[in-house]
Amino acid sequence: MRELPRDILIEVMEDVIEDLHGHVHRVADLSVNLGLGLGLGSDDLDRLALAGVLHDVGKIHLDPGILGKPGPLSEDERELMRRHPELGFAMTRNRMDPKVAEAILYHHERYDGRGYPFGLAGDAIPVLSRIVLVADAFDAMTSVRAYQPALPVEYAVSEIRANSGTQFDPTVVGIFLELAAIDKLPLALSA
Ligand SMILES: [Fe+2]
Repeated sequence: MRELPRDILIEVMEDVIEDLHGHVHRVADLSVNLGLGLGLGSDDLDRLALAGVLHDVGKIHLDPGILGKPGPLSEDERELMRRHPELGFAMTRNRMDPKVAEAILYHHERYDGRGYPFGLAGDAIPVLSRIVLVADAFDAMTSVRAYQPALPVEYAVSEIRANSGTQFDPTVVGIFLELAAIDKLPLALSA
């Protein structure tokens, strides 16, 4: 398997997308821990480490003005933003394990089928994507973003619990709550 030069790609990504500093590493870390809790094998854990870091790589193609916008996005801007899973898939599909590229493609699909880009539901969404979705949501809430201050960990945990079975896979949320109960969630310094 031929892989992208990870460190260079991550540096470029972090430079272009200021909000992603540290974020991608915490998402990878939490994704791997969730995968461990689910009993996934070492190949899948390796894929999670890579997909966690690269899940938003497609944002490199988006206008930095949209990425760093402090207020809410317009409908057109939201449409553009929603293309990033497919852009990331196109960037990675021929360069690494296809399951990593797939995990990136489906990382905004929701368990109830109301996500994007395809509206897949339940087990039709690859498990690696269902894991990255939870890890990404937790870190997005607990770190500072252009559009919001960092929210308290307790709030983020309760949001993920509240959206179990709708946005998130309940099995993944179960493992997440176990990690939360023993203080094993990776936290942004600013949180
Ligand atoms: Fe994303």
